[in-house]
Amino acid sequence: MFSLRQSLRHFCHINSSTHQTKRHLASAAARIPRAKPISPCFGAEVDGVDWSRPLAPEVVREIIQLQNRWGVLVFRQTGLDDASHVAYSKNFGALETAHAMNKPRRASLPQLYDAGNLGPDDRIIPQFSRAWWHTKGNGLWHTDSSFHQHRSSYSALRAVELPPAGGQTKYADMRAAYLGLPDDIKGRIENLVMEHWIWHSRKLAAPQEFDKPTDEEKATLPPAYHKLVQVAPDGMNKTLYIASHARRIIGLTDRESTSLIKALLDHAQQPQYQITVKWKNVGDLVQWDNRCTMHRATAFQDQKNRRDMRRTTTHDHGPAAFGVKNQLSADDIDIRVGGKIDISASPTPETQTQEQILRM
Ligand SMILES: [Fe+2]
Repeated sequence: MFSLRQSLRHFCHINSSTHQTKRHLASAAARIPRAKPISPCFGAEVDGVDWSRPLAPEVVREIIQLQNRWGVLVFRQTGLDDASHVAYSKNFGALETAHAMNKPRRASLPQLYDAGNLGPDDRIIPQFSRAWWHTKGNGLWHTDSSFHQHRSSYSALRAVELPPAGGQTKYADMRAAYLGLPDDIKGRIENLVMEHWIWHSRKLAAPQEFDKPTDEEKATLPPAYHKLVQVAPDGMNKTLYIASHARRIIGLTDRESTSLIKALLDHAQQPQYQITVKWKNVGDLVQWDNRCTMHRATAFQDQKNRRDMRRTTTHDHGPAAFGVKNQLSADDIDIRVGGKIDISASPTPETQTQEQILRM
């Protein structure tokens, strides 16, 4: 973990002044979303959205501005169903078709990724099944779809059924984490490219199950390549684009690569960069920007309680949407889809005690 920490005051100041100007311009609208901060710089609960009708263009623009400032937006009791959830998300761009690797899709529309603990028979996924092990990777810090060459911008996760305790979602601000890096580290990582591979995070979370992904799994979801340091969606701040999917850094030795990824992930998950969102009601919707945040699911009693969560994922349309694959040589790219780099397992979220879960 890096020893030097910079104040976040400058970071917050940049965002606040810019947002206030834009907010003033938007105030002419009759009904605009209002944000209540969760922490001084990161995350906000938003009300004032009329979910009963399609969003007006000025409301969509305001939500994007709020998203650029706060990174994570929490909308309570939206009343959205599968169809209106998908229709809402289409305001922000084309949506991913959800992959269903190891877990057949339950939701009614192909744009909805099933993030709960229920199987296609509507029963709780059995412990120690491959589908159950696959969900364990969601407990590691990550950003959605970094393992796709066409990465995502927003994820919008909706609660359909909630457990009585646990199952909260933690978020980390990657703009603040970048700002908190020592200057020499910033210089060292400025132009690095990372390989993201979903089977890496699955193995980290469940090495006993995903030590060797199948040929079909590897072919379906091969690695993707993205710059580590990027410009945040606000166009001003820099941000780290990192996740537990990150397997290696192009051009570094295996040891250097593994060491630097671990140091950056350890740094980024420090408490001062985090918020925890508590799911309170069916219909709560949390939308976050995958380009400047990480998140992780927390544990709950997944063999006793049902948790039905459905997510839309919007394709990024920005300048870094397709990463850097075309700028790499064949030697740089892991065309063997599997590679030789080994990894050591870390503790999984299952190591959380029941007391820790109940305190969340
Ligand atoms: Fe996720």
